[in-house]
Amino acid sequence: MALYSEKVMDHFMHPRNVGTIEDASGVGEVGNAKCGDIMKIYLKIENDIIEDVKFETFGCGSAIASSSMATEMIMGKSIHEALELTNKAVAEALDGLPAHKMHCSVLAEEAIKNALKDYFDKNNIPYDKSRFKEIDHDELHEQVHGDD
Ligand code: FES
Repeated sequence: MALYSEKVMDHFMHPRNVGTIEDASGVGEVGNAKCGDIMKIYLKIENDIIEDVKFETFGCGSAIASSSMATEMIMGKSIHEALELTNKAVAEALDGLPAHKMHCSVLAEEAIKNALKDYFDKNNIPYDKSRFKEIDHDELHEQVHGDD
C-alpha cells in the first residue's frame, strides 16, 4: 500500500486556500521547534461565519495537505463548528496519515484554534480558556519520532 493516500498527494500537490488575508479577523501561528515546521492560518469572520480562510505552511507534505484540507473543512462554517475541528477529522478526511505523521495534522487544528482565539481576544469575546490549552509540540514530536 502506498504510504500516502491519493487525497494527501492531491492536497500536497495542489493545496487549496494558500496565501494570506490582509485584513484578517484572526491570525494563528503554530510551530514545531524540533522539525521546524510552521503553520499560519488567516481567518475572515463575519457574523460568526468563516467567510474566508488562507494558510501559509513551511513544512512537510503532510503539514501542507493537512492545512489545505482543514481550510476546506472550515470554509463557510460557523466559528463554533470550526472550534470543533479535530486533527483526527482532518486526517480522516485525507483518508488517513501514516502514524508518525499524525502530529502534522495537529498543527492544522492548533493553528485554526489560535486564529479563533486571536479573533475572540481582539473582539473581547469571552471564551472557555480550557479549550485552548497549549500543546507541547516538542514533546509530541518526541513521542512520535523518538530521538531522531
Ligand atoms: Fe513535523 Fe510534519 S509537522 S514533520
